[in-house]
Amino acid sequence: MSNNIVIAIDGYSSCGKSTLAKALAQKLHFIYIDSGAMYRAVTLYFLRERVNLHDNNAIAQALKNIHLNFNSRDYQSHITLNDEEVSEEIRQMPVSDNVSAVAAIKEVRHEMVRQQQRMGRSKNIVMDGRDIGTTVFPDAQLKIFMTADPKVRAERRYKELSLKNPGITLEDVFENIAHRDYQDTTREESPLVRAKDAIILDNTNLSPDEQLQFALDKLSDLLEP
Ligand code: DC
Repeated sequence: MSNNIVIAIDGYSSCGKSTLAKALAQKLHFIYIDSGAMYRAVTLYFLRERVNLHDNNAIAQALKNIHLNFNSRDYQSHITLNDEEVSEEIRQMPVSDNVSAVAAIKEVRHEMVRQQQRMGRSKNIVMDGRDIGTTVFPDAQLKIFMTADPKVRAERRYKELSLKNPGITLEDVFENIAHRDYQDTTREESPLVRAKDAIILDNTNLSPDEQLQFALDKLSDLLEP
């Protein structure tokens, strides 16, 4: 049996999951894996290749042609799609607008979960997403379920996105987040739901440092003999 530690961080869109996950990975020298980036990279490929989301054969074939890799050197989320660095492009609106539909496809989820489980088999990792504590690593030592006021989430995301997309409005971002929440929580295949043993972290009024301390305290409580 392997003794590696897995920290699973799930929650709604734009809740600060990746900020906390990266900080934890850096502090603990764990590997950070951004599972959402994988769904985003698949979505980018599907958009570029105009894969019909209702054609199971086309999807299965496309999945065979997709090779994803993380460069985890700096605790950020640098992902390559067939050796091309796509970390920036997968954050743009065309991908954000389509990713929930792609992430709802059973074949896509099965393949991503398989790859995610392989990545966490023998290493200490922090992985963030929607189904990490429920489906990918139900035995994770620490599970955190993050949430925050939707308006605060939209404002945070807007600040980030508007630097690179001057045309974007706060309403666009709010709508995109609301739409993704709806799709993520109502899809048939592993919907976003809190694992029974996940600790809730509402970060509406918490600084990144406070969130990090919260998670570190929980981890040390759990790992104490
Ligand atoms: O975390 P994010 O916003 O980058 O995720 C992008 C989309 O991928 C989001 O709409 C939900 C989906 N996703 C998922 O279904 N399961 C995961 N483990 C991670 C992300």
